[in-house]
Parts: sequence; structure tokens; C-alpha cells
Amino acid sequence: MSRTFNVINPATGARVGAAPDASADDARAAIERSVAAFPLWKAKTAFERGDLLRRWRDRILQNEDALARLMTAEMGKPITESRGEVKYAAGFVDWYAEEGKRAYGDLIPTHAAGKRLLATRQPVGPVYAVTPWNFPSAMVTRKVAPALAAGCSVVLKPAEQSPLTAIRLAELWVEAGGPAEVFQVVTTSDPVAVSEPFFADARVRKLTFTGSTEVGKLLYAQAARTVKRVSLELGGHAPFLIFEDADIAHAVTQVMATKFRNAGQTCVCANRIYVHASIREAVVVQLAEAVRALRVGDPLDEATQIGPLVDRAGLDKVTAHVADAIAKGARAVVGGQAGQGLYFEPTLLVDVAAGMRILEEETFGPVAPIVSFTSEAEVIAAANDTPYGLAAYLWTRDLGRAFRVSEALDYGIVGVNDGLPATPHAPFGGVKASGVGREGGRWGLDEYLDVKYVSIALPA
Ligand code: SIN
Repeated sequence: MSRTFNVINPATGARVGAAPDASADDARAAIERSVAAFPLWKAKTAFERGDLLRRWRDRILQNEDALARLMTAEMGKPITESRGEVKYAAGFVDWYAEEGKRAYGDLIPTHAAGKRLLATRQPVGPVYAVTPWNFPSAMVTRKVAPALAAGCSVVLKPAEQSPLTAIRLAELWVEAGGPAEVFQVVTTSDPVAVSEPFFADARVRKLTFTGSTEVGKLLYAQAARTVKRVSLELGGHAPFLIFEDADIAHAVTQVMATKFRNAGQTCVCANRIYVHASIREAVVVQLAEAVRALRVGDPLDEATQIGPLVDRAGLDKVTAHVADAIAKGARAVVGGQAGQGLYFEPTLLVDVAAGMRILEEETFGPVAPIVSFTSEAEVIAAANDTPYGLAAYLWTRDLGRAFRVSEALDYGIVGVNDGLPATPHAPFGGVKASGVGREGGRWGLDEYLDVKYVSIALPA
């Protein structure tokens, strides 16, 4: 493959490097290799696969700094967060190296004396994985590690903005002794053309995708053509509920952690912050101070907390959400403007109300909108009044309320006094328009396994 496309640093506009620009024919060739590799990989024991995964984890951790710098250059994440992400990415590999050994089956109590009934679990087959730019390493290992542990071969197509990290991860897999055909990366500037052969080919048995709900719906429909297994981790619009009995200082630190991580470019970012009217003033004062103190700058600088947005489309969306809110009566207590290049000022909005875009759509930027409420029923209804259902957060010291509200929230993930609930061994995923299936923990392995029922009639 001789064609390439450029990867641009969003902080500087400089070229970071070039990635191979695959065509539909390249995709077909990758599928052939993946299909041929699958039975050989499936035939290995979970212990053999686990050994290779552990070696891959080691190579990832040995390359932590280089991978972190590459990610920061590709998509602008502050370097300290990139280092954290490499550890997070290695954590998925670590977990699945072991969890693959626990793909247990069942011996089902029989209904007939001469029969034995088994339910076993087998790898689904070759997988097509499509990953986003906002976590260029962790979203790769969150999919590839369980797929490989289960015995599937994988072809991965990373986002155009951050292909180099994915390429490096596949190189590290090979350096660790992993077969190259078992985990391949196809990079392209034309994802529609390159994805088509995967959807057309019935031998590709599974689609796993993380990205926007809009694109996820299109891929879901395409996967139906050959009735593939599907996992979709799509958009979020997370509500963050702060009740009147909350530890305000702790809630504020956690709003900062979940809202401003990766400049607000995560699917689980607090997108709407509902504060009980009786504590609204105190929360706004403390949040304003914290938002003002955020250090915006060169993401390679160790002190930087907020880098650029990934691209012009991302910046335009954030700018439009803030402009719409202000035009409809909201007020920027801090920030509110686009900065140089692809930067947007960390922003705190108050007097945010129903009818503003920011309360209806995922913003994916460093903007914290505050809405006040007066009753539990009112705030639960507002939190659930969205097509999305990925993550929600609630802050209270009342145990009864913690259970009541977390059960009432229509979300796949709920953080109770916890702004950063995601971890490799817990289930991650949403309901409604936020997706299908779960990643992480034993649930993540199930997504790559089919149940096979075997009924054995014993000779008389
Ligand atoms: C995401 O935003 O897609 C992933 C966030 C996480 O794993 O914490």
C-alpha cells in the first residue's frame, strides 16, 4: 500500500506523521488473512492466548512514555492524561489475559436419563472493530484484548485523527510474539469504502464500534445485512445530580474530574450539572474558582490540564452550543469563548434552562452548564428526559436516596459520589441511543463468545 494520509497535531497544526491510506481491496485482503487466522487462533488454549496477552501488556507498559507522546501529538490530550490512558489500556489487556481462562460452560440437569446436556462457549469468529480518537489506546485494548482472549481474530479500523497509536499497538503485539494476522490494523481516510467489505462478508461475524450515535446507527443497519453480532458504545449526555445533602467540596472536585478530563471529550463526561437550589450559590462559587484555575496550554507541557479540541468540527459544535445557550438567557461565569486555534476556554454556564441545545445534545467540550432543581422527582425526570443513557452521576450522603435515585436513572453506568467509575473489570456501556452490549469485565468477554448447546444421547 503506497498511499498515505497525514495526521495533524491539533495543538500546533503541524504534521505528526502519515498513515497508510487503505482501500476497499486492502480491506478485502485483511479479511482473507483474518478468516484464515481464526481457526488457528481459536485452537490455542486460553492459557497460550493469555501468555501472549500478558507479554503484550508488558510491551505496552515498557513503551508508556512514547505511546503517551504519540497520543498527545495526534489528538491533543494533556500528557499526564495520556500516560494515565496507557496504564488504563494495559489494564484491559492484563484483565483479559486472565479472564479468557474463565470462559466456563455449563452441564445442564437432564430431563431424560439417557441424555447429557452441555452449554459451551466458543469464539464468535473474525471481528471488525472500529475505534474513536478520544481514547486512542484504551478503546483499542478494551475491544481487542477480550476478542483475542476469547479466540477471535480482529481487524481494527481506528479513527482518522489518531491512527498512529493503533498502528503502534499492533506493532507491539507482534513484538510480544503475537501473530500479525490475528490482530491487524487498517487505517484509512475513507472509512465508508473500507468498511463496506466487512459488512458484505458473512465470514466477519462481529462488529464492535465506539463512536457517535449517528454513525453507530448506520453501522448497526449495515451489520444487519449479514446478521453479525454487534456491540455499540455510542454517545452520552451525562447528568450530574448534586443533592442538598451532598459533600459540596467533593462534588466540585469530581465535576472537575469528569467534566474537564480530555477537554470534555469523553462519552461519559458530565454534560448537564443539576444542583439543588439551596446549595446552588455555594456550588457555583467553588466551581467558578476551580474552572478559572485550570491551566490551558501545550498538551505536551506537564502542567497543562486543558488542551485543544480534536478538530474544527469539534470546536464549531462547542462554540455553537455556548452561543445558543447565551442567546437563550444563559450566562458565562467563566470563559465562554473560543481561544487560539482549536482551543475553547474552560467555561461555566449558569441560568441554563430547557430548550437550550446544551441540555439536549452531547457537547464534547470543556463547558459545564448549571441547572437548578428543587425536588428529587423533578431532577430524575429531567435526567431521564433524553434519548441517551450511558453514564449518570449523583451526589448525596443519604443511602436511601443513593439507591432510590440510582435505580430510577435510566443509564448503563451510575456513579454515586464517584465521578470516575470506569475500570477494566467493570461493565461499561449504555441503554437507549447510547448503545448495545457491555465492555469490560466478564461482560466484555461474553460479547465475543457464542453459546453452543450440545445434547448427547448416550448409547443404551
Ligand atoms: C469514552 O468516553 O468513550 C470512554 C471513557 C472511559 O472509559 O472512561
